[in-house]
Amino acid sequence: MLSNLIRQPQDKILALVGAFRADPRADKIDLGVGVYKDASGATPIMQAIKIAEQQLWTTETTKSYVGLTGDPAFTAAMTDLVLGTSNVEDRISAAAMPGGTGAVRQALELIKSASPSAKVWLSNPTWPNHTSIINYLAMPVGEYRYFDAESGIVDFEGMLEDIKLIPAGDVVLLHGCCHNPTGANLTSEQEDLVIAALSKTGAIPFVDIAYQGFGEGLEQDASFTRKIASQLPECLIAASCSKNFGIYRERTGVLIVISPSALAQPVIQGNLAFLNRQNFSFPPDHGARLVTMVLKDGDLRKNWCEELEQVRINMLGLREKLANELRQRTNSDQFDFLAAHRGMFSRLGLSPEMVETLRRDHAVYMVGDSRINIAGLSAQTVPILASAIAQTIVK
Ligand code: LMR
Repeated sequence: MLSNLIRQPQDKILALVGAFRADPRADKIDLGVGVYKDASGATPIMQAIKIAEQQLWTTETTKSYVGLTGDPAFTAAMTDLVLGTSNVEDRISAAAMPGGTGAVRQALELIKSASPSAKVWLSNPTWPNHTSIINYLAMPVGEYRYFDAESGIVDFEGMLEDIKLIPAGDVVLLHGCCHNPTGANLTSEQEDLVIAALSKTGAIPFVDIAYQGFGEGLEQDASFTRKIASQLPECLIAASCSKNFGIYRERTGVLIVISPSALAQPVIQGNLAFLNRQNFSFPPDHGARLVTMVLKDGDLRKNWCEELEQVRINMLGLREKLANELRQRTNSDQFDFLAAHRGMFSRLGLSPEMVETLRRDHAVYMVGDSRINIAGLSAQTVPILASAIAQTIVK
């Protein structure tokens, strides 16, 4: 039986991790997987998390099961972080999930249970794992225009045109902030137009918010999600704690569902518990507990907010520096969009051949679509990357 299994395609982002590790060149630069790195190239444990971990070690008295949808204190704290003070409290269901990816997967399972024929519409491009999971679940999938590769900004006319055609009952997957892979984001006015279009058509928004705090700041990064949740009758929100709490390997995330009526809420909450039970039973608790402690303790929260803000500012500085270096070295404004982009990623608009040249001749690793992880750079490596790109694009 098991010999019937066929080889599965490697995840393009994760495959880079292995390729980078195996490269013996000392001056190699990793701009692949979305993991934050400080100026020394380390991915630090955030101070508030470390302190919470110490406290937890002394105060935790049991490792017994929590609940199928996780600790209610965690889901409440995360709902508060993502939605702020909302007017939809009696319509919210929420469950802890193994990371943002776990939340995406479970949201899709919930959609499939509710409406097997619902088509899920993705931005072109999107995080490749969105497409992969949807295909794995054999769900219908469509694409709406999103990115203008020529200018490096959102093709908003195209996006809105496509979104207006998506029928009631289908699902539109939107990036809450810090679009992955492009780094190009909607303006507040554009967000409002998308919401107005969805409100007219009856298509259901599904927000993936994995980088809250990495773009314009914690509150502002949540504003699109908050507007959707408060203005539209129903929506799904997958939120990750991997990046903004730096707890990647703890697998911590939450799925929030806003139902059209308070009456539907208990049924949806029950479905979340059911799906968790079928898929993995109880969600991981350690990371969720740390996040709850950080969010609920005034000092820890302040410390976390400050460190997160520093991370954001570091990335903005790197964006500016890279855009400047590229302007000088290419004598053009071709890469100016880098400074306007927000979040961890930008797509450079290079061909797969150029990406390959950068890897082969300059030991620079980026995803094949020329997505770079800005946080993989440092003040030292920005000029090296800019020079490598300038040499590559004139060849
Ligand atoms: C990324 O896009 O690099 C991150 O979201 C990590 C991942 O799981 O792909």
